[in-house]
Amino acid sequence: MLKVLGGEAVSPPPVWMMRQAGRYLPEYREKRRQAGSFLDLCYNPDFAVEVTLQPIRRFGFDASILFSDILVVPHALGRDLHFAEGHGPQMTPISAEEIGTLGQHTDFHKHLAPVYETVTRLRHELPDETTLIGFCGAPWTVATYMIAGHGTPDQAPSRLFGFRNSAAMEQLLSKLAEVSAEYLIRQIEAGADVVQIFDSWAGVLDEACFEAWCVKPVAEIVRRVRAAHPGFPIIGFPRGAGALYAGYREKTGVTAVGLDWSVPLSQAQSLQKDGPVQGNLDPLRLVAGGRALDEGIDAILSALGTGPLVFNLGHGITPETPVSHVERMVRRVRGAR
Ligand code: CP3
Repeated sequence: MLKVLGGEAVSPPPVWMMRQAGRYLPEYREKRRQAGSFLDLCYNPDFAVEVTLQPIRRFGFDASILFSDILVVPHALGRDLHFAEGHGPQMTPISAEEIGTLGQHTDFHKHLAPVYETVTRLRHELPDETTLIGFCGAPWTVATYMIAGHGTPDQAPSRLFGFRNSAAMEQLLSKLAEVSAEYLIRQIEAGADVVQIFDSWAGVLDEACFEAWCVKPVAEIVRRVRAAHPGFPIIGFPRGAGALYAGYREKTGVTAVGLDWSVPLSQAQSLQKDGPVQGNLDPLRLVAGGRALDEGIDAILSALGTGPLVFNLGHGITPETPVSHVERMVRRVRGAR
């Protein structure tokens, strides 16, 4: 993984999956039951270390991603957060007036100390050859949950908020960029080998907003992280960016670009000329298995396998995915036909 992020083509490519610790694994569901709530899992290092390691033991992925959530950052700034079973995250929507007071009454790093401890313990417990990925949400994606109070399909509440209160939006995004950079720096100092910035809702914005709300704050995070750790490998994942993927690496400074499955492989090849790419199997091919899975894998490997590639899904694995299909994917990426 680290060689690929350094620009080398490695065959077979390293492989991991977004959301690789999760509900498709019976052992995850068991731990989740024991922990109580999803947030208890995130803030308890014993549980968080265990569920992070589960997919590594089962599948021997080349990279392990810290088990946590992007929304622990606004939680650590004092916003309330609940995960209601089957409803995803719930927060009290933030008002423009509240933005200036974010983090005033909380100790951000103290709140997140269990996450840093999880990273340190993971780096000791993982095999040396397994890369440990830390992460944060990109400011825009985190802001969409803070503003709407829950997930929405098109982020209409946040787009409208930004058009009506552009100064407040900029203030929110720059605050999130500042604290997210500190959060990543602490994860790096605790033992993360790579960090990924998830911009899951980058795809709903027009070009001007994409530049102002996605590119600019992510570039700010990269600048701050690299000021503390020059050259540190950073993966950016602006899901759904389409034509706006072109230029994203150069403008933000990320090392590698994560691609969703709607990115044509010809476009992926041209992005790979400028550096490593990660992706981009449709997670539903993994649910279906069989030919749909094999053909999807083979297409990615033949288009991108001779350049720097981190094999991954184009978004997170879904809970209904059979474990045997994940085993089949890993075997096939590693050369079995
Ligand atoms: O294995 C991993 O990838 C590491 C852990 C991880 C989780 N969330 C665990 C999780 C990571 C990297 C995330 C990132 C995250 N969280 C994103 C960005 C990536 C993406 O998927 O787009 C976003 C938007 C969130 C916010 C979030 N967390 C939502 C919208 C939901 C509900 C959706 C769902 O799948 O239920 C979550 C909950 C969540 N985060 C779960 C897990 C394993 C499921 C919670 C459970 O077990 O009940």
